[in-house]
Amino acid sequence: MKPEKLIALALAARQNAYAPYSGFAVGAALLASGGEVYTGCNVENSSYGLTICAERVALFTAVARGERKFTALAVVAGTEEYCSPCGACLQVLAEFGGDIKVYLANRHGAYRETTVAELLPVAFSLNANA
Ligand code: THU
Repeated sequence: MKPEKLIALALAARQNAYAPYSGFAVGAALLASGGEVYTGCNVENSSYGLTICAERVALFTAVARGERKFTALAVVAGTEEYCSPCGACLQVLAEFGGDIKVYLANRHGAYRETTVAELLPVAFSLNANA
């Protein structure tokens, strides 16, 4: 799938963001190896720490559907800057492979291509001290 298509799906998912506290809506679209796309948006809560990011919503939805292999993720916010996943989301993504491509997009759909491993080069691993 072309990055532009995945980014368009992330932009569409962003429309459903529930972000009354920050006003910062994020959309994500995750491409599984079989070609299926799973989308997510951020969902905030009045107990702020319970907020979940768009990326984890997309990933957890996919995993709950039985997916385990992913090839690409698009992330988009309403900013001129490219939107990068937060550290927590990168750690969760790293569980499923550092080689997942990440398209960091801006509000216009312009993007920069990177990978989970590039964004989080030294992810936590239970094997680190084994
Ligand atoms: N957020 C995401 O959805 N993804 C990120 O990678 C970073 C931040 C959300 C969380 C919160 O609802 C809002 O953006 C502001 O931090």
